[in-house]
Amino acid sequence: PAPLPDWPWPAVMAHRCGGALAPENTLAGLRVCRNLGCGGVEFDVMLTRDGTPILMHDETLPRTTNGEGRVLDHGDAWLWTLDAGIRHHVSFAGEPIPRFVQAIERCRALDLAANVEIKPCGGHERRTGEVVARLARQGWEGAVVPPLLSSFSVDALRAAADAAPGLPRGWLTDRVPADWQGIAQDLGVIAIHTNSLHLTETQAAGIKAAGLRLAVYTENDPQHARLLRNWGVDTIITDRPDLIRA
Ligand code: G3P
Ligand code: MG
Repeated sequence: PAPLPDWPWPAVMAHRCGGALAPENTLAGLRVCRNLGCGGVEFDVMLTRDGTPILMHDETLPRTTNGEGRVLDHGDAWLWTLDAGIRHHVSFAGEPIPRFVQAIERCRALDLAANVEIKPCGGHERRTGEVVARLARQGWEGAVVPPLLSSFSVDALRAAADAAPGLPRGWLTDRVPADWQGIAQDLGVIAIHTNSLHLTETQAAGIKAAGLRLAVYTENDPQHARLLRNWGVDTIITDRPDLIRA
């Protein structure tokens, strides 16, 4: 296969759109991210019951919206009526759950490099990977910077690779296992995204020496972020892009 394109790897990326400074996984968050000077953004994409990709982290609605029940129990039209801003702050009341296509449009308009985390509901890994990758390929067609797809689900990553083989992909893992190199090779990813709490200097050095990119989440402490950057970490995914960028 042709080598995958690289990605800009902004030093700081806002987590779930605007980090802690906006309701998570919303278009308002993308604006905040841009205003803070971040070059890139991470957000989560999940399928509704009717197979529409939307920006959503949890499989259930109450933590981030005024809705009840599971995402998978509802169609896109009903989910669109929910408020995804009010739980964060009243000033964001009325902010909807964005559809993935809207987030693509907004990222392109704001010139934000997008790390699209494929977040399948349990049992829907392959389908989610396939749908999200296909839409990402279409949505960013002709763009100078492609989206970076990532997932904790290896099934979703494989399906994404089948659906959009030309898009760069990163493998998400809470802890870097001993056989990280074999897994990364097998998945055909260009990057490992891992929990900043568990990453060691030796692991970081090994990953970089293998020619892979390295991103960490969710690092909100400027001093630790600096240390991680000194270890060779390419991108810090953070809830506090304001502090980390400063
Ligand atoms: O993609 C990095 C990070 O977002 C992974 O954890 O649970 O916030 O999606 P989570
Ligand atoms: Mg995420």
